[in-house]
Amino acid sequence: MTLPIRPAVLSSPDYPFNPVDAPVKLDQNESFADFPDALKAMALERLRHLPWHRYTDLNAEALSEAIAAHDRWTAEGTVVTTGSNVLISLLIQLCALGGRVVTVTPNFALYALDAKLLGASLTEVPLRSDASLDIDAVLAALGPASGDGPHGVIYVPRPHAPTGSLCALDELVRLAQACPGWLLVIDEAYHHFAADDARELARRHDHVVLLRTFSKAWGLAGLRLGYALASEAVARQLRKLVPPFGVSLMQTVCAQVALEHPGYVQQRVAVTLRERERMAQALAAHPSWRVLPSQANFLLIRTPDAAAAHAALLAQGVLVRRQDSLHGLQGCIRVTVGTADENSAFLRAAGLLA
Ligand SMILES: Cc1ncc(COP(=O)(O)O)c(C=O)c1O
Repeated sequence: MTLPIRPAVLSSPDYPFNPVDAPVKLDQNESFADFPDALKAMALERLRHLPWHRYTDLNAEALSEAIAAHDRWTAEGTVVTTGSNVLISLLIQLCALGGRVVTVTPNFALYALDAKLLGASLTEVPLRSDASLDIDAVLAALGPASGDGPHGVIYVPRPHAPTGSLCALDELVRLAQACPGWLLVIDEAYHHFAADDARELARRHDHVVLLRTFSKAWGLAGLRLGYALASEAVARQLRKLVPPFGVSLMQTVCAQVALEHPGYVQQRVAVTLRERERMAQALAAHPSWRVLPSQANFLLIRTPDAAAAHAALLAQGVLVRRQDSLHGLQGCIRVTVGTADENSAFLRAAGLLA
């Protein structure tokens, strides 16, 4: 019997991830430390006194206000969902169902996967060989300026995943100015680890949207919470696509507690930046591996053979992520910056530390 399922779904691959157990887990760019115990206790205590039999806010209004206050945005322009990966799909539904999605390659897998699942036509613009973003090539891919949209969605991760590169803000300004009929989505999942962010650009352009997440620097990947910072005009329409009462009481309370105590994030980011530098310096001495400069909490490394490098590290208890199936990333593996001990274990396994 033929299943009554759209061909685009049937022909799409699964999300590319195989869980593997290892003592040193540096494969998913998570925070190196759990949400602090004292904050977990505080959140659980608050939850104990709240009514669980009632629905939460329709559109996570209270949490949107707390996020907006922290990120210096407007609550009306903040749209919260259960992970920023949900927003990647919703923004295509908003502007590009049956339309166009333009992004770069190599890239975070979901932009292309969701574009295919939602029947959008996908254009992937190769990065330059130094992993920098070629804005002129992106502009060429958009085609001739044809006035107001909707033409589709452009996805640019900044910092870029999985290379860790950071495109220049003035280049993004040029892109934003040249694509008024497109929704320009800048995925800032790793912005805490970078020198700057794109809020000013998004404030000045209603068609620019930022995606952020609690999964990385906030140490709350298991909570599943992400959000968009958008113009109020875009946010109002986007909310129509977000499931009502979608953000749970538990997600709301844990994130509120986190936002009331942002100091732990700043401390951890400082550790990550220090450790990233230590790892990059040690890796620079490797006889055959080449590490790329990174503005995120991970490093991309080109090796002569990704399968061999991955297996050799795993044999010593260190799990990293292979990236060699991505465009232009032959031989590449990606390692998350972990705790100092985990990073030392990685460097030892790579033969770079006694
Ligand atoms: C660039 C990028 N965007 C978005 C996400 C998804 O984050 P979330 O956990 O909020 O769904 C990830 C997760 O690894 C990512 O690397």
